[in-house]
Amino acid sequence: MSTHEEWVHNAWYVVAWSEEVTQSKPLGRSILGKSVVMFRSPEGQAVVMDNRCAHRGFPLSEGRTTERGIQCGYHGFEYDHTGACVHVPGQWRIPPGGRQRIFPTVESHRWVWAWFGDPEVADPSTVPDTHWMDDPEWDRVTHTRLIGCSAGLLNDNLLDLTHESFLHTSTIGDDAVFENGVTIEVEDNIVNVDRFMPGCYPSPLFAQVTNAEVVDRWHTTEFQLPAVHIIHAGVVEPGGRREDGYRFEVLNAITPAAQGQSWYFYAFCRNFEVGNEEMNAVLTKSQGTVLDEDAWALEHQQASHDASDEDIDDVLIAQDAGVAMARRVMNHLLDTEWTAPEQDGSSGSQQAPLAGADTTQVRAL
Ligand code: FES
Ligand SMILES: [Fe+2]
Repeated sequence: MSTHEEWVHNAWYVVAWSEEVTQSKPLGRSILGKSVVMFRSPEGQAVVMDNRCAHRGFPLSEGRTTERGIQCGYHGFEYDHTGACVHVPGQWRIPPGGRQRIFPTVESHRWVWAWFGDPEVADPSTVPDTHWMDDPEWDRVTHTRLIGCSAGLLNDNLLDLTHESFLHTSTIGDDAVFENGVTIEVEDNIVNVDRFMPGCYPSPLFAQVTNAEVVDRWHTTEFQLPAVHIIHAGVVEPGGRREDGYRFEVLNAITPAAQGQSWYFYAFCRNFEVGNEEMNAVLTKSQGTVLDEDAWALEHQQASHDASDEDIDDVLIAQDAGVAMARRVMNHLLDTEWTAPEQDGSSGSQQAPLAGADTTQVRAL
């Protein structure tokens, strides 16, 4: 099976937590196969810049931050937050071409987002809403992982949560997950996969944190393609309304790092026991276990794909309705990203709507 993965570039991707990007030390990271350096300007602005110094290619992440911006650790070129070279040691003249590429960047609710496609169409208003991250009505625990698998495998993982029944048995897994089917909705580049589990045991973790014995449970994966899954989940007494239950908003930002390697930025937000540090400790541990189990499975899965020299398609079942739809939308985004015709002088990189699927509902199982 071919394991080479194409990535949509005209999109916002999470590249770091706000607190990781500082004025004191550059941060180097591979994002979409590109080596970038991040730092905070003296004015406090997060900067995402090509990591290869324009002089002779030394990685700026091995340099230092300065009052002007960032300084290369090899021969001392300095660049400001716009990427302009502002100082060359030993001469007053700045060479033409002494400029670093910078990527459009937005900071929102503790995440730093960057855009690696056409900067002309980078619209900050399209950054996904993740306000639960710093909403005082909610509390949260967070994790970061660099997982040795493609972003596609992680996306499939989040769209088919039946794996909870088998992989996450000590925490969020229970037979109720695979025993109940999903309802799919698609609107533009958003795929929703909703599963309602009426009158079920609440799973070991939910039993521990809610003290409930029988509940109605739900989880809805809202995949905002290509990079963010927000899982709206919860439990409530049987027959209760979702808005009255114990609710979770699980933020999953999946950012390709390189071929076969992905960043996973994760926040597990809840609307109860806000400020309870004991609960935070319980959830930090349980959700760390969940992510480790996912990483274990996904890295095995990636290795299995890498080892195969045959082009074998997955066998999809009813529970994969969301996986199939999301793959279709992702392919559409890839197909249209750079090929839309230029008209009226407008940019050629706007994405066209998915024909026949502006709003689609599919009942599976
Ligand atoms: S390689 Fe950066 S200043 Fe020479
Ligand atoms: Fe999982």
